[in-house]
Amino acid sequence: MKKNMLATTSIKLLNETTPFAVREAFNQLRTNLLYTVIESDSCPVFAITSVSESSGKSTVIANLAVSFAQMGKKVLLVDGDMRCPMVYRFFGLDGQQAGLSELISGIQTDVIHKDIRPGLDLITSGRIPPNPSELLTSQKLQDLLAEWKTVYDFVFFDFPPIGVVTDALTICQSVNGYLFDVRSGRNHAKDVLVAIEDMEQVGAKIVGIVLNDYNIKGSGSRYSSRYSKYGKYGEYQKNQYEQAAELSKRKASDQ
Ligand SMILES: Nc1ncnc2c1ncn2[C@@H]1O[C@H](COP(=O)(O)OP(=O)(O)O)[C@@H](O)[C@H]1O
Ligand SMILES: [Mg+2]
Repeated sequence: MKKNMLATTSIKLLNETTPFAVREAFNQLRTNLLYTVIESDSCPVFAITSVSESSGKSTVIANLAVSFAQMGKKVLLVDGDMRCPMVYRFFGLDGQQAGLSELISGIQTDVIHKDIRPGLDLITSGRIPPNPSELLTSQKLQDLLAEWKTVYDFVFFDFPPIGVVTDALTICQSVNGYLFDVRSGRNHAKDVLVAIEDMEQVGAKIVGIVLNDYNIKGSGSRYSSRYSKYGKYGEYQKNQYEQAAELSKRKASDQ
């Protein structure tokens, strides 16, 4: 996968006024993701997670879903972060409306916001349930995913951070690929690596890393806002190991 940069400072959701560089960056992220799709996957399911809150997961996954819809694909975006729902805000919806939690619990069936953007359907998180992990591991969700796979070209899941809860691990059998979101300057390399190892141990496939809020000011770009970088996992992992080694060397010399 090629490196990719995307900016989210001045945008919430991609639209016609979004700067060209930002649109291009999301398009490239989309292209890179497409390379990870195996032909036999009729409708790949992608999810995003991280080690902490506020890394930019919701921002990235919502824009990615929009970007796939803009390509003419039929896309479903699902807010699976039932403890900290956010996706409804991007679309100007009411957070109290029924969503995934009501759908899985059988309280309500009609929760899909059809064509919230051209080609994009949305399921918000719904009201915060007492048992988010149980809902995400339920057979009902597996059945829903099987149903959605017959209707959509792509499904995107916003997930909670892996370091706080284990929700994101629990339905990984149904997720074709995980994006791992890292907020530049906030997440420690070691935490990221431990989280990724934990995920891989339970069979989750990491298809890419998004380095969000990476400041390229002074890099020569005429876009001097904060950017996100997207790289393949192996490449990122190497850099992170190097950074972790550098950090421990510095700590040792400080003592
Ligand atoms: N690259 C970025 N630059 C500036 N602000 C960002 C960036 N990415 C996310 N944010 C902001 O950070 C906050 C947390 O982002 P969010 O996507 O909700 O994170 P998460 O879903 O991981 O908790 C939001 O206010 C969002 O607008
Ligand atoms: Mg979120």
